[in-house]
Amino acid sequence: MERGWGGEARLLVFLVDARIAGKRRVAREMWVLAMDAPEIAASVRAGQFVNLGWTPGPLLRRPFSVYRVDDDRIEIVLKAVGAGTAQLLDMDRGDRVSCLGPLGRGFDLGAGPRSIVLVSGGLGVAPMPLAAREATALGMRVTWVHGARSREELCTESGGDEVIWATDDGSQGLAGTAVAAAPDADLVLACGPNPMLAAAADRWPDALVAVETYMGCGTGVCLGCAVPLKRGGYDRACKEGPVYRAADIDWTALPAHLPYAVTA
Ligand SMILES: Cc1cc2nc3c(=O)[nH]c(=O)nc-3n(C[C@H](O)[C@H](O)[C@H](O)COP(=O)(O)OP(=O)(O)OC[C@H]3O[C@@H](n4cnc5c(N)ncnc54)[C@H](O)[C@@H]3O)c2cc1C
Ligand code: FES
Repeated sequence: MERGWGGEARLLVFLVDARIAGKRRVAREMWVLAMDAPEIAASVRAGQFVNLGWTPGPLLRRPFSVYRVDDDRIEIVLKAVGAGTAQLLDMDRGDRVSCLGPLGRGFDLGAGPRSIVLVSGGLGVAPMPLAAREATALGMRVTWVHGARSREELCTESGGDEVIWATDDGSQGLAGTAVAAAPDADLVLACGPNPMLAAAADRWPDALVAVETYMGCGTGVCLGCAVPLKRGGYDRACKEGPVYRAADIDWTALPAHLPYAVTA
């Protein structure tokens, strides 16, 4: 496997007919879905995602970060925001999903940092358990700061050496955003709504952030996932991303008509 910021990661991608193995609720509208996908479980890195398809289902696959890995099983965390995610949540144990992955370039934790802060907002918890696991394996001290609108929307699962909660309404933990609540560290990872990532970029330009976009193919072919870069031009979030150095994204140029725009 070849990783780094200079070129494309060369990774093996698998297409797995995955059996749904379980479902549990981790916040008011947030669920974790487990599926048997041994090849992906064995090779996925934190921040990478799977592109899921099912029948009958939407024409295009839907991308989901890998949340946890347990032996041959991978988990994703999801919330119903539209037809596709609602169908996925309706699935029962034993149903099958076509699972393409692992895709994209995950968090490159390097070997230098001694402390790491994971900053997640809402569904941005998605890549953090794997990131916590990898950082711990590298000997880092892991602080996880998780923010949501209210106590009911906070994911009840967490990890790392220290957990800090933040809620917009102050109903649990610190009142305010996860970015404001986070301490500094040698390395910061963030995932959540793009306005939150833009705020993270202001505070920590070198943070590694997992960006939200629309995706079609997930494999670098359709150009549906274009992300505007500060240096000019666009990048494919599914191939060169979804993880970027925070200051490298031109956050204000994310298309204003799309729900994931910072300016929407
Ligand atoms: C790399 C990556 C990882 C992701 N990981 C997760 C995850 O772990 N858990 C999770 O729940 N979701 C995740 N998402 C978002 C998820 O893919 C979308 O919520 C899903 O595609 C919506 O499908 P749908 O058919 O339910 O909604 P649609 O019917 O397609 O859309 C319903 C509503 O959701 C909005 N929407 C659709 N797709 C997106 C999107 N990508 N970003 C923002 N808004 C969108 C639409 O504008 C619309 O308002 C991830 C997205 C990316 C790009
Ligand atoms: S989703 Fe098709 S190129 Fe990225």
